[in-house]
Amino acid sequence: MRRFYKGPDLSRVLSVAEMAALARHRLPDFAWEYLAGGAENEQTLHANETDFSRLRLTAHTLVANHHPSLETSLIGSTSALPMMIGPSGFNGMLWPQADIALAKAARAKRIPFCLSTVSNASMEQVRDAVDDLDLWFQLYSLKSPSLNGDLLARARAIDINTLVITSDALVVGNREWDRRNFARPRQLTWRNKLDLLRHPNWIRRVMLPNGLPTMGNLNPYLPANEQSALGAMKFIQEQLDTLLDWDKVARLRDQWQGKLILKGVLHPDDAIQAMKLGFDGLVVSNHGGRQLDGALSSIEALPAIVDAVGGQIDLMLDSGIRRGSDIVKATALDVQGVMLGRATLFGVASGGQAGASRVLDILEEELIRCLNLMGVQSIDELSSDHLYRS
Ligand SMILES: Cc1cc2nc3c(=O)[nH]c(=O)nc-3n(C[C@H](O)[C@H](O)[C@H](O)COP(=O)(O)O)c2cc1C
Repeated sequence: MRRFYKGPDLSRVLSVAEMAALARHRLPDFAWEYLAGGAENEQTLHANETDFSRLRLTAHTLVANHHPSLETSLIGSTSALPMMIGPSGFNGMLWPQADIALAKAARAKRIPFCLSTVSNASMEQVRDAVDDLDLWFQLYSLKSPSLNGDLLARARAIDINTLVITSDALVVGNREWDRRNFARPRQLTWRNKLDLLRHPNWIRRVMLPNGLPTMGNLNPYLPANEQSALGAMKFIQEQLDTLLDWDKVARLRDQWQGKLILKGVLHPDDAIQAMKLGFDGLVVSNHGGRQLDGALSSIEALPAIVDAVGGQIDLMLDSGIRRGSDIVKATALDVQGVMLGRATLFGVASGGQAGASRVLDILEEELIRCLNLMGVQSIDELSSDHLYRS
């Protein structure tokens, strides 16, 4: 990309890639690498995007252009678009109150928003801040069954109907950039401290009001002298259930009466197992290439999973969605819609709610244009006949 827009008028940002360049410009190095980086050699991170480009679209010509119908059902939720904002932790490092900014952007488009266990705003704060939001909660299962139970009870108490269990992060991926940026846990290296000085606006916005934000959902469980970002990190490292397995997940199924989704599925056998346990839906995902480097890209893994489940369970996909045409390709391969990860995070890091909304606008416009150019009147029409693998 030769140039990108750096000014305050986000309507002049034309693509997710351009929003990423703006986020890169506005964030200090350590926060940018946290957002954009992948595990180890970043093979899977890159494959997530390049494997979309290996799929070509077939198009019919001379089909009258109408506004295509985009409304869909995402694992039981009605969504105005075949996309939603997926879960991500520690968004407050990108922009103040970023979880709420993302939730408001999702609400404005009438699409669901999924809050992470390790978000900065608590689920109750998001619920209070955004009226009429289709709010989902993503669980990183904790070792303590009573704490898990409490998180689920809190979610139920505020009318969250959809729980997403993330299964691909029982061990944190080897993100070397993260280890390089910190001299000790949460202690930036001198090089990174100097780099902060190049980002006075970020310091003013994110750091000066209250320092690094804590993890709202976990605050009630932290000892009084550890109510800090550092305390929350320590807690999650100690509490994350690295022994989560199918038996434990089956117990969570029994505890949760609402919709239950497994996020992080790449193998057809796992999809079948989740189906047997009564999951309502799956997210085909490799965590945006942040976990197992060398894993299949999500779009590459999808066809075998579609074959295995034979339409008996709802599917979504994430990892690598950067263009409206990526959403078309995933939908043509039979998912109901996609979860957005970095795309909307690039937006929120560039301009809070306005930035996230701009990304959703860009993706919606691209999606409509792509369907118009293909001669497709509704996303429901899409099938693998619209794809050609080169
Ligand atoms: C900064 C960042 C934080 C994330 N935190 C979480 C999280 O807390 N829980 C989770 O299930 N997935 C998390 N993810 C993974 C996303 O939900 C999603 O799977 C991934 O971002 C999709 O890939 P993409 O960013 O290439 O679209 C995170 C991703 C990023 C980039």
